[in-house]
Amino acid sequence: FKTIDDMDLDGKVVLTRVDVNVPVEDGRVTDATRIEKIVPTVKDIQKKGGIPVLLAHFDRPKGKRVDSMSLKQIVPALEQALGQEVVFADDCIGGPAKRAVAGLQQGDVALLENTRFHAGEEQNDPTFAASMAALGGAYVNDAFSAAHRAHASTEGLARLLPSGAGRLMEAELKALDAALGTPQRPVMAVVGGAKVSTKLDLLMNLVAKVDHLVIGGGMANTFLVAKGVEVGKSLAERDMADTARAIMEKAEAGGCAVHLPLDIVVAREFKAGAANEVLPVDRCPADAMILDAGPDTVEALKGAMEVCKTLIWNGPLGAFEIEPFDRATNAAAQEAARLTREHGLISVAGGGDTVAALNKAGAAADFTFISTAGGAFLEWMEGKELPGVAALHD
Ligand code: 3PG
Repeated sequence: FKTIDDMDLDGKVVLTRVDVNVPVEDGRVTDATRIEKIVPTVKDIQKKGGIPVLLAHFDRPKGKRVDSMSLKQIVPALEQALGQEVVFADDCIGGPAKRAVAGLQQGDVALLENTRFHAGEEQNDPTFAASMAALGGAYVNDAFSAAHRAHASTEGLARLLPSGAGRLMEAELKALDAALGTPQRPVMAVVGGAKVSTKLDLLMNLVAKVDHLVIGGGMANTFLVAKGVEVGKSLAERDMADTARAIMEKAEAGGCAVHLPLDIVVAREFKAGAANEVLPVDRCPADAMILDAGPDTVEALKGAMEVCKTLIWNGPLGAFEIEPFDRATNAAAQEAARLTREHGLISVAGGGDTVAALNKAGAAADFTFISTAGGAFLEWMEGKELPGVAALHD
């Protein structure tokens, strides 16, 4: 696909799809990461003489105007990130959008109101897409994290205007390709989280692609059950045991080593500071629950990680949000950070909880790449084609 470098943008209004779906509390942005990440794209479009007009969704208003979901509230954070004033139009089509765009000059930037205020956005309605397309002369998609949605502003527009990928989109695709597409081997995937059922496709895809699969969090308990290990009162999906077995069989057939906990941290209550003990994996008391992997598991994981050249990480290894059950996640994350710094490990992570866990461990800054995507990262790990990316290829 094309990038900004390949596009003729001089003097053109460039409809630029970004993802500024950021956390907001009381009308203020509390984490501007996604906003900061689009700055290079906006600046590079301007350098090529284009006038960026940003299109974005915010939250899920379901096709209606909902004041609390207005993009107006992110304008101050966007202005701060860009270091310039941002023109805001209170609709992404029609009179307000046309008037705002007509008043723009080279060097300016505008943001149009939430595309999801129109039902045509999620329906990928061609008429709605054409109304947006009429505002500009080119389309740049920089919203990898929304590329799993086949919406008018993520997919439809690419079919109506000369199109290309923005800098963040390029960086995300490059990092993900380095992690799973054409990676340096051996490759390790760390997959955690509560449930096997939500990550089934992902696990099935990974066992065919990686050399080591580390399974952590609540979903590891389901795999232990599948192996006949008693897990007491732990979170486990007993009806998924056959599926877990099928995943392990597929892994074995393909030469992928599956790493499950060797020892466990158990407690009687799910709360911060709950009394806990470390036990061998097959000694979980009937009235206790597994809340983290133990130190032997972490040591074994470090040993396997040390010989890997590539690491892809999604999901915490334990109940990382309550101490002290964040220990395995922290230790593994810090080791990944160290190997990245000192041994050139290529480390890529994504998914909402994952980034929070790596930040908490103080490891995120050392990772080779942290994706801005949640759902799109998961779908990509599942091996699915993302409609927003596919449209740029076509
Ligand atoms: C996200 O926050 O993951 C993206 O902005 C997509 O949002 P959505 O799940 O509401 O489509």
